[in-house]
Amino acid sequence: MDMREIRIKAREKLKGVCRVCANCDGRVCAGEVPGMGGTGSGAAFMENVRAFRAVKLNLRALHSSPVPDTGTELWGHSLSLPVMAAPLAGAAVNMGGALSEKELADGLHAGSRAAGTIAWSGDAFVPGIFEAGLAAVAAQGGCGIVTVKPHGVEESIRRIRMAEDAGAVAAAVDVDAAAFRPPAPGLSVGAGNPADLEKIVRSTKLPVILKGIMTPDEAVAAAAAGVSGIVVSNHGGRALEACPATAEVLPAVAAAVRGRMKIFVDGGLRTGADVLKALAMGADAALIGRPLVPPVVGGGAEGVALYFKKLASELCAAMILTGTGAVRAVSPRILYGSA
Ligand SMILES: Cc1cc2nc3c(=O)[nH]c(=O)nc-3n(C[C@H](O)[C@H](O)[C@H](O)COP(=O)(O)O)c2cc1C
Repeated sequence: MDMREIRIKAREKLKGVCRVCANCDGRVCAGEVPGMGGTGSGAAFMENVRAFRAVKLNLRALHSSPVPDTGTELWGHSLSLPVMAAPLAGAAVNMGGALSEKELADGLHAGSRAAGTIAWSGDAFVPGIFEAGLAAVAAQGGCGIVTVKPHGVEESIRRIRMAEDAGAVAAAVDVDAAAFRPPAPGLSVGAGNPADLEKIVRSTKLPVILKGIMTPDEAVAAAAAGVSGIVVSNHGGRALEACPATAEVLPAVAAAVRGRMKIFVDGGLRTGADVLKALAMGADAALIGRPLVPPVVGGGAEGVALYFKKLASELCAAMILTGTGAVRAVSPRILYGSA
């Protein structure tokens, strides 16, 4: 199977829920949440894509270097490239039942691992979804990051313990999903105060990551709570329509906590060059969301591995053309306008 065949098959199976656009930029699916789009007018999703595309790289090819090293590591776990599959859950509500939750989770996790990287599992405020992701991580011998929704301290700790038992590399809480929880009398809103976060961090031996940090002050608060990483993310523009693009806030957020934790970013990255831009702006690695949906729907694990292979070759080309020898040695100097 090649990517063209995979995309044709995905388009048939998705029946219009995702149009499998050549440029996944949020225009035709604007407002389709649940679904594959961005919330409201779709502006935050579209802005994410636009902002990464707007960053340019200095082309410098006057060198004779060995093949670039795209590898990196996370808490002792080697990755073939600084990119992972973002949490993507809700096959029934978001993908029109084009595949089962198990097929979605298994395909993302097995395909990512086949490509030498890992996937993050997802969660929801309904039963079944967290469990499918957790099982997929366990099936890969723990090669994956388990994401839990902000369920409150006790339930978050309970789910993170299950991630530990599955042997996961780390556990994440997607704090930007705070408004997705059905409000109920007596339940606090928000993703938890710094004391709650500290309790969660102290409850586990796993590195804890907060996904959905968009400001330097919250990055500093996350560091103070002892987290091991953050994801600069606005949930792919699915949570708050009126928020900036992740590429716009990444440099300042990264500068606030660099060296104290791992910094990840997602939202609108579409090419290997976009990944290199993210690294030059201060990220240790990037997550890819929606562009993995057609590959997993049309080609399962094989489609996902093929997608990462293409992305890795784009990243390698961008590294050659910016004189970047290794992911560990990306310089901000490669950003146009910086030097
Ligand atoms: C269909 C769908 C389901 C998602 N499910 C989750 C989830 O369960 N947990 C989570 O933290 N983020 C979830 N996200 C957000 C992604 O992990 C990621 O932040 C976002 O898609 C990145 O932007 P991109 O799609 O432009 O690459 C979901 C996104 C989509 C499109």
